[in-house]
Amino acid sequence: MQKTVQYNVEKVRQDFPILQRIINGKPFIYLDNAATAQKPRQVIETLDRFYKEYNANIHRGIYKVSEEATAAHEEARAKVARFINARSPNEIVFVRGTTEAINLVAHAWGRKNVGLGDNIMLTEMEHHSNIVPWQLLAKEKGASLKYVGITDQGILERYEFQQHLQSGAKLFAVAHSSNVLGTINPVRELIREAHKTGCCVLVDAAQSVPHMPVDVQDLDCDFLAFSGHKMCGPTGIGVLYAKGNLFDEMVPFHGGGEMISEVHPYESSWKPPPYKFEAGTTNIEGAIGLGAAIDYLSNIGLRKIRLHEREITAYAIDKLSRTKGITIYGPSDPQARGGVVSFNLGDVHPHDMATLLDEDGIAVRSGQHCAQPLHERLGIPATTRASFYLYNTEDEVDRLANSLERVRGIFKL
Ligand code: ALA
Repeated sequence: MQKTVQYNVEKVRQDFPILQRIINGKPFIYLDNAATAQKPRQVIETLDRFYKEYNANIHRGIYKVSEEATAAHEEARAKVARFINARSPNEIVFVRGTTEAINLVAHAWGRKNVGLGDNIMLTEMEHHSNIVPWQLLAKEKGASLKYVGITDQGILERYEFQQHLQSGAKLFAVAHSSNVLGTINPVRELIREAHKTGCCVLVDAAQSVPHMPVDVQDLDCDFLAFSGHKMCGPTGIGVLYAKGNLFDEMVPFHGGGEMISEVHPYESSWKPPPYKFEAGTTNIEGAIGLGAAIDYLSNIGLRKIRLHEREITAYAIDKLSRTKGITIYGPSDPQARGGVVSFNLGDVHPHDMATLLDEDGIAVRSGQHCAQPLHERLGIPATTRASFYLYNTEDEVDRLANSLERVRGIFKL
């Protein structure tokens, strides 16, 4: 298979200092990008500059350095809005990550809009962060969870989606792209169908926004959540997008300083969104670092990154499927999946697999990847997962395949 050149991957790799490391005597191969991505020097230097030149609290100080920090923070919000094509920066709330974003919606929207006997629709491929907040809400309100099943290939069962919609689901919370199967769900179509019945839709975009162009106006989602650390940004910063005036109608999530308009001993009033949802001193440098990550990814181009990952994934599926005894999960069509390849090799435990791959300098994730219900549905205790990003190469996939042969030898498969 001939790989088309999207951008100079070797040049991109030079931007990531960690990729120069030698691990266990071998060049480091980082294939755990679905867990977190590595950081380019452009992001590292942005954080360094913040601490050296303009570290101050924001929205509070009446002095130059604080005003610089505030301006950089709000510029980062505007960059996020442009990056996902939100109508306004006011539709963007900074949170700690996808998990906090979903908890915010469950608390601030869910408690007001979900009641006794209501249904919340999820899918069998959700991450725990898009299951547990809804379990908590359902228990509190006497609501029910309904799961859309998947085929053995990891594709949503559309008739079940239709059935749950017809039975009057209040909210559909769905992963844009599965962190285990790689499946890219047709969220645009699903949202359109859900809206016809008045069902609100939250998209867990943790595994899509870092890897492909995402346009919230085109999707027409009500909420969209993602994390900075999976897209070359710092840890502890993430984004919750809410459409139009949805944030206005929601109750605060956290109470404290800077989210208020006035505070009196027995009652308070709130600032308008997004500030109503950003109580206390937030992750200022994280937001600014995320802005730098967005600049970095945008300069390369999300469309090119997506094409590169699609080619690497297709190459990996083709190459790894030649390993005797391997089972690869998820859709067979690389067009229908992101850069995630989960597998099992014979009866080798994924933790043993990850340990042996690490001896060859290869970092993968093993276990259930925060998706236990999905593994139960697949009838397997765990998987090993290789996940790719803009800096991975076919040569690295070849080394993974060679390492799997070594594992086969050790286990005499
Ligand atoms: N959600 C992250 C993963 O899939 C942590 O590994």
